[in-house]
Amino acid sequence: MRKPFIAGNWKMHKTVVEAVDLAVALKAALADVSTMDLAVCPTATALEAVSHVLTNTNIGVGAQNMYWEDSGAFTGEISPLMVKELATYVILGHSERRQYFGETDATVNLKLKAAIRHGLTPIVCIGESLAQNEAGETVPFVGNQIRGAFAGISQQDAGKVVLAYEPIWAIGTGRTAMPADADRIIREAIRDVLRDLYGEATAQAIRVQYGGSVKPGNMADFIVMPEIDGALVGGASLKVEDFAGIVSNAAQALKA
Ligand code: 13P
Repeated sequence: MRKPFIAGNWKMHKTVVEAVDLAVALKAALADVSTMDLAVCPTATALEAVSHVLTNTNIGVGAQNMYWEDSGAFTGEISPLMVKELATYVILGHSERRQYFGETDATVNLKLKAAIRHGLTPIVCIGESLAQNEAGETVPFVGNQIRGAFAGISQQDAGKVVLAYEPIWAIGTGRTAMPADADRIIREAIRDVLRDLYGEATAQAIRVQYGGSVKPGNMADFIVMPEIDGALVGGASLKVEDFAGIVSNAAQALKA
């Protein structure tokens, strides 16, 4: 059984002071949750302070990106060694990084290998654009993103990866995928490709989150889907009531 995993991607929001306030509030609000893995991914400048607040709690900390080299003349970048001092997770290949910062399946693959090499748990994002969705290209496109991300990754290492299916047209738009559609795409574009690459057991072990306008009011509809193992939450992870509401509604729905 895959343990549900809900993570907040704070994107480029929150100063260090604001991030600490949110982390302190989340620590209190989510202290009783044990049936799910939880994490928050603050901006790089707030990682140290937030990880300090959340040490020895049930909330993990993740970075939103990193470079693949351990060190060197790469101005502005953060290495896996640096992330590892402060976080256990790292989001890789978010669509905003692909869209605005030139990331490709090939660079995501290099980052994924670096994360695994350093014992970080990667959350690899994949998902199609609106044009691709409307053209019926979602399954082949997302399947290719999976093949690209996992190129050269062993079966044993593949099992350590978390995936986040985030249709680009659903991110920050208030327009979510239909849960049944997201479930089908995860099965056909992700689970089937992983089975082809690594066999049934690994394909079934890898957790796949849904991301894109997740809110307290729609979380239950996603989490009950057989292929959806949690959520990567953007906007609604920035307010303690919303993120705590998402987590408690998911827990309720799974209990029912
Ligand atoms: P929203 O929840 O704001 O749509 O963002 C989703 C996302 O991109 C999480 O990584």
